[in-house]
Amino acid sequence: MELYDAMKSLRAVRRLRPDPIPDDVLRRVLEAATWAPSGGNVQPWRIVVVREREKKATLGTLYAERWKAYSQVHRARLANASEEIRASSERMASAGDYLAEHFADTPAVLVHCFNPGALAVTDAKQDRLSVVGGASLYPAVQNLLLACRNEGLGCVLTTLLCEVESEVRALLGIPDPWYTDAMIPIGYPVGRGHGPISRRPLEKMVFAESWGESL
Ligand SMILES: Cc1cc2nc3c(=O)[nH]c(=O)nc-3n(C[C@H](O)[C@H](O)[C@H](O)COP(=O)(O)O)c2cc1C
Repeated sequence: MELYDAMKSLRAVRRLRPDPIPDDVLRRVLEAATWAPSGGNVQPWRIVVVREREKKATLGTLYAERWKAYSQVHRARLANASEEIRASSERMASAGDYLAEHFADTPAVLVHCFNPGALAVTDAKQDRLSVVGGASLYPAVQNLLLACRNEGLGCVLTTLLCEVESEVRALLGIPDPWYTDAMIPIGYPVGRGHGPISRRPLEKMVFAESWGESL
């Protein structure tokens, strides 16, 4: 695919078919992750590819509990939103319900893991939430998502299972000092899959020289 087309149509795809992913396709997607940059080129992440049905079912049970709690709060928060926002959020929520119900049917769940001691964390001493460590992790995830898009695979970056990280680590035998930062279910889409996205325009997101100055 043309790169910009892939980027601007990389939306969350939560309805995935159970059809297996050919090994060579999966390998290309995983290799794309390995090309990502990281602080000091330490590459402080690993991926566990989960395809065994029992493991996916256990992850799915854990995921569905988290999703139920999240989506209840999300739906309640939207009660007073405009009709348009409620309709699009409801579409997202019902796709989320589908993923939660079909987690075990997803052909592969990629569990992205990281080693906190190996991260370059240049904002560690700031008096606010530290985020720079994640910059050595999520470029690999984004590469992987774009590669899925290129291969015609649906995918969605999820993090809800990080709330039950110890259970996920025990299930997959993830040793110290490795933890989890994302779980990416992938598979061929049930419907159209990736497509148009809704994002704020560049003018709202980018400034020239000083904060607030339009480009
Ligand atoms: C850090 C992060 C965490 C996310 N966690 C979840 C998740 O746990 N479950 C889920 O269904 N989607 C999750 N998403 C997907 C977002 O909900 C989705 O990208 C966003 O709503 C935009 O939707 P779109 O890409 O379809 O336009 C996550 C995305 C990001 C970037």
